[in-house]
Amino acid sequence: MASIVSDGVSNFARLLADANAEALSGSTVTALGRDEQPILNGVPYRVFRQSIDLCERRREGIFFSGPDLAREVAGLLHAKMPVGGLALDPTCGIGDLLLAYAEHLPIEATLEATVDSWGRQLAGIEKRAELAAMARARLVVLARARGRFVEPVARIDGCFPAIIVGNMFEESERIAQADGLLFNPPFGQTSDHTVSDWGTGQLSASALCLDSLVAKRAPAAPIAAVLPEVLRCGTRYARFRTRLADAGLGGHFASRGRFDAWTNVDVFTTLLESGVSYLWQLPAIVSATVGNRFTVRVGSVVPHRHADEGRWYRFACAKTVPAWSTGFVPETGRRFQGTTHVPPFVVVRRTSSPGDRKRAVGAIILGDSPVAVENHLIVLTPNDGRFESCAELLAVLARDATTDYLNRVIRCRHLTTSSVMGIPWVATDE
Ligand SMILES: C[S@@+](CC[C@H](N)C(=O)[O-])C[C@H]1O[C@@H](n2cnc3c(N)ncnc32)[C@H](O)[C@@H]1O
Repeated sequence: MASIVSDGVSNFARLLADANAEALSGSTVTALGRDEQPILNGVPYRVFRQSIDLCERRREGIFFSGPDLAREVAGLLHAKMPVGGLALDPTCGIGDLLLAYAEHLPIEATLEATVDSWGRQLAGIEKRAELAAMARARLVVLARARGRFVEPVARIDGCFPAIIVGNMFEESERIAQADGLLFNPPFGQTSDHTVSDWGTGQLSASALCLDSLVAKRAPAAPIAAVLPEVLRCGTRYARFRTRLADAGLGGHFASRGRFDAWTNVDVFTTLLESGVSYLWQLPAIVSATVGNRFTVRVGSVVPHRHADEGRWYRFACAKTVPAWSTGFVPETGRRFQGTTHVPPFVVVRRTSSPGDRKRAVGAIILGDSPVAVENHLIVLTPNDGRFESCAELLAVLARDATTDYLNRVIRCRHLTTSSVMGIPWVATDE
């Protein structure tokens, strides 16, 4: 492994052999995080670029997402997926999108069980066999690194059986089985097609691939994608956009600028879903937020640091406040000398992961005297002092749209006051 990093070996086949060895025996992975691990970070793409000339990569559209874009796209899809659902990337390359999606999947008791379980939730199609093999090896390495597993694996070729070498245009059945799709297709131009109703002549391969994917997918399967801006803005693709809208697909978009240094293509990310009435509009500017109506602070009591001294107060802590309570009066108390809060107010648990069903779990605190609050809770005091405002806030926090918003803005495992202040204030489901 050290050789790859230190002498920049420009041989993808050799790197693949190393990746397989790493996946089988795991000599170094467990000591390294995801982004320092050569097989998991930019090294495979770098070695691949050194191995295949740019003209061929442009002709075949072989440019990989990289971790930042991949995590954004995977996050968009994961927020919409059923637990245990099957995510498929029909042009998976070395698996950047699949790896980013696998970061959301749970670790099982053993490496074998983890690979087995991920193998039932991850599928891919890739034209080039060496890229599909690298995707499979990297996923095993990721499972090792995340689970800190050291046990060997008997055979790598049995792992991730749903990542196959193939042509997405010929894989209707496989695509129809997916609950959701990750998508970063080739971006180049091609006249090798039979389309006539929405375009003629040279067309972007990405449009042809997307068109085929839309036709083959299960009707409810969302598509989280990186696509070239020309599909969204180009007049040549107006009929293509109408075709997507007519197929009942819609979704917001976010422009992401130039894809990378080699492609010279501007891209956007999007989540396409059935039954959304607008296609590629900007999210509405949100003027009303939780922060306009509530003062948002972190609780001040750090139990192991603050001495039990000062005035006696009722004490709210993450362990004792019942989730979604509409009126909890803390029975236990403690002495405290710092900031306290006058009910009614809402507390939200700070610990919150992108995989949680609800990201902002709240409860209303009532009582007739100030309350000391543990620092594992965020305190939201209504500016108008009314209980009714707290009840409305609880409804806002429980909305799926609030969880979606938090999943977009805060990927780590703790909510921040600014992420909570930015929650859009829309009390009823639209
Ligand atoms: C732009 S890359 C994206 C790879 C990966 N999805 C990512 O985001 O890093 C597109 C990949 O699709 C593969 N590809 C191109 N046409 C394909 C087809 N018809 N079926 C399956 N794979 C294809 C290419 O070999 C390339 O690896």
